Amino acid sequence: MRTVVAGDDPVRDAARRASTEREVVLATAAGGEVPVLLRSARLGRPPWVLLTLRDQAGTRRMEQELRRHERLAMLGRLSAGAAHEIRNPLAGIGTSAQVLLGRFEPRDERARFVRVILEEVGRLDRIVTSLLQYARPRVPELKPTLLAPCIERVLELAAEPVAHGHVRVEVEVAPRLGPVYIDPDLVTQVLLNVTLNALQAMPDSGTLRYEVRRVRRKAPARSAGRRAEDRAAGRRRPRGHDWIASQQVRVIDTGVGIPRHALARLFDPFFSTKPKGTGLGLAISQSIMQEHGGAIAVASREGRGTTVLLDFPMEKRHGQRRQPHADTGR
Ligand SMILES: Nc1ncnc2c1ncn2[C@@H]1O[C@H](COP(=O)(O)OP(=O)(O)O)[C@@H](O)[C@H]1O
Ligand SMILES: [Mg+2]
Repeated sequence: MRTVVAGDDPVRDAARRASTEREVVLATAAGGEVPVLLRSARLGRPPWVLLTLRDQAGTRRMEQELRRHERLAMLGRLSAGAAHEIRNPLAGIGTSAQVLLGRFEPRDERARFVRVILEEVGRLDRIVTSLLQYARPRVPELKPTLLAPCIERVLELAAEPVAHGHVRVEVEVAPRLGPVYIDPDLVTQVLLNVTLNALQAMPDSGTLRYEVRRVRRKAPARSAGRRAEDRAAGRRRPRGHDWIASQQVRVIDTGVGIPRHALARLFDPFFSTKPKGTGLGLAISQSIMQEHGGAIAVASREGRGTTVLLDFPMEKRHGQRRQPHADTGR
């Protein structure tokens, strides 16, 4: 047991004072460290000391996660502001370049440079649009939708890169799956993001597989407790958790995989390992899934491939709106 201060001895300290409370770290046998809250009380005569240790690891992780969320929310607001500012001048540059292009003969050497300007303006515009979408996602319009046709639609949209990468596609849909309450356009966008990532991870060849099935998952803790309709339906649930009946889409690729250190950062906006990547695809997908009350998770092994799990709740009520301006806890 030690503290972060050299020469500090928490036990000796506890013997000298009537009571203490401080954070210390315990060294584990495996060489790790566990942060604990140490409380001491000196009792009796001759005096003896009562020490209690409370594991802080869980609390720490939660605090870290919370700080990360706050940082991301802040980043979202900042980028939305910047994106708005960039949009107008960018439109000005684009229109001017378009006019200029009209003044040159098609064969004119200078027209080539103007086309480069237009292309890059287009690229910036796409980044700005993605940024705004990440920071201010539109409210999903939920309607009963079958997931399989969404996958078909994505495969149509991605037909070109699929053929180009010599990728084999497999789709397996469990029998008798009903609709889920989703916004088909937004979910198609999530599936497309994930599909393009999978294809980019298999530049030469590989297999892209979609599986759709029914699953049950634990709901995030809700403050309002159980709802009347749960009780009315006579459903018994394990204490502390609701179970959400969901449908899961697995998008499985046999591509390059994701190194361990990158896994933790996948959903951070701007995290990308690609030269022309925006790093917004998964960040946007995650915010869309959260707005649906769903979830997105990634499992991967380097050199083997990656599986993305998308969970969609089957009931309508689970969607939760992110509140970009009320989440700093001030
Ligand atoms: N299926 C996958 N296989 C390997 N790496 C992936 C896969 N999906 C995502 N990644 C990694 O996650 C990063 C972030 O993805 P994304 O948010 O879509 O941004 P972008 O595609 O613009 O880089 C990618 O740059 C890549 O390193
Ligand atoms: Mg991407």
